[in-house]
Amino acid sequence: LSSRDGVLELDLEAAPVWVQVGGREASVLAFNGSLPGPTLRVAPGDTIRVAMTNGLRAPTNLHVHGLHVSPEGNGDNPFLSINPGESFNYEFVLPEGHPPGTYWYHPHRHGHVADQVAAGLYGVIVVEDPELIPVTRERVMVVSDLSLDSSGNLAEAGRMQQMMGREGEVVLVNGQVRPRLDAAPGERERWRIVNACPSRYLRLQLEGQQVRLLSRDFGRLPTPEKTTEVVIAPGNRIELLVETTEGSSVLVAAPVDRGGMDAMMGNGMMGGNGNREAIELLTLEVSGDPVQTPEPVPAGPALRDLRGEPVTGRHTLDMGMTGSMGGGNGMGGGSGREATMMAFTINGREFDPARTDTPVTAGAIEEWTLLNSSPMDHPIHLHVWPMQIIEDGDRDVSAPRWQDVVNVPARGQVKVLIAFEDFPGRTVYHCHILDHEDQGMMGVVEAR
Ligand code: C2O
Ligand code: CU
Ligand code: CU
Repeated sequence: LSSRDGVLELDLEAAPVWVQVGGREASVLAFNGSLPGPTLRVAPGDTIRVAMTNGLRAPTNLHVHGLHVSPEGNGDNPFLSINPGESFNYEFVLPEGHPPGTYWYHPHRHGHVADQVAAGLYGVIVVEDPELIPVTRERVMVVSDLSLDSSGNLAEAGRMQQMMGREGEVVLVNGQVRPRLDAAPGERERWRIVNACPSRYLRLQLEGQQVRLLSRDFGRLPTPEKTTEVVIAPGNRIELLVETTEGSSVLVAAPVDRGGMDAMMGNGMMGGNGNREAIELLTLEVSGDPVQTPEPVPAGPALRDLRGEPVTGRHTLDMGMTGSMGGGNGMGGGSGREATMMAFTINGREFDPARTDTPVTAGAIEEWTLLNSSPMDHPIHLHVWPMQIIEDGDRDVSAPRWQDVVNVPARGQVKVLIAFEDFPGRTVYHCHILDHEDQGMMGVVEAR
């Protein structure tokens, strides 16, 4: 769905629906009846109007992940709640000069986010490039996961899964199990990939094809980077350029270790976290008559570098998981009462929408230290204002690296610079393992 005359208008209904998932009937929640919901294509300067209806049995709302829009309007309002049966009219403007890229939308009603995203409520927003990237084809791919019970209903996440961050048994690409894509040799495809899984990290590999990274979260890299694998946390997006060669290739999500609770459990019962086996996401079949590969991709503008600009504020966010895990017995079932004593905090506090945790000066550049004193990775996401990573363990950040979801490894830390420019207002940062966000790992930032 594209904007016309500078306006994108749409009715969006979140509601239960039966769909086919891997050859079975499944009862999911979806926007406008499809997994994923409609892809929205907009350009900087556009007005976006969404009449959203809540056809669910729980409160919900709509969040436009990654968009740089005012937190004072209703474009970014994680505090708003739409009750079952009610509607809300969203209207906001995408500022001129907004970075192009692949963004997404999903519900953001605290306490229900993981359940609703895991159930199928997500969709893609493409902000069009100001300049044409020469490709033969563009594909939008939403990776998600879910678990179904034997009657095709969504399986409820147990207490233990909520603490670890649930990973669904079935991994889908655009609502399908291992779809097959066809291409001719010599194509240059642009793949826009969204990790819409509530907790699953994806280590993406596509053997047998030439792959370059064009974008990480938003914007585009000045020169696409040759790559053999990219790891994306929940909420992250990438854009790939795939130059095709004859043959059959599989896009794989290879194992990821995102930490576990062993250290807290004092035994090996829980094991690590994250998938241990490679998962096949899709097959790309390249055959037939070769096509003419388009012109080389022109270099894009250099990425902004905040290093060297005056930093006027510093904050530390310390992600913690505290509480008793109840020792070595009774935890396997996931129903131990002790388990409920675990708190997911930032600087020792659980989310409170009424409290402002991090006041910042509008227009200021701040340096934030994202600290993780827990034994699991936490992908930290800030609304509205993107983050430039300036320190990340041994990772090379000599070239500017911008993201809106930044993984903070277990017992590690990452430093970022943030320019709180363009808008005053109040919004949130949180762990994008959505179960952690729902359990309190979220804070409020206010620019004034
Ligand atoms: Cu994608 Cu605050 O979330
Ligand atoms: Cu977001
Ligand atoms: Cu987390």
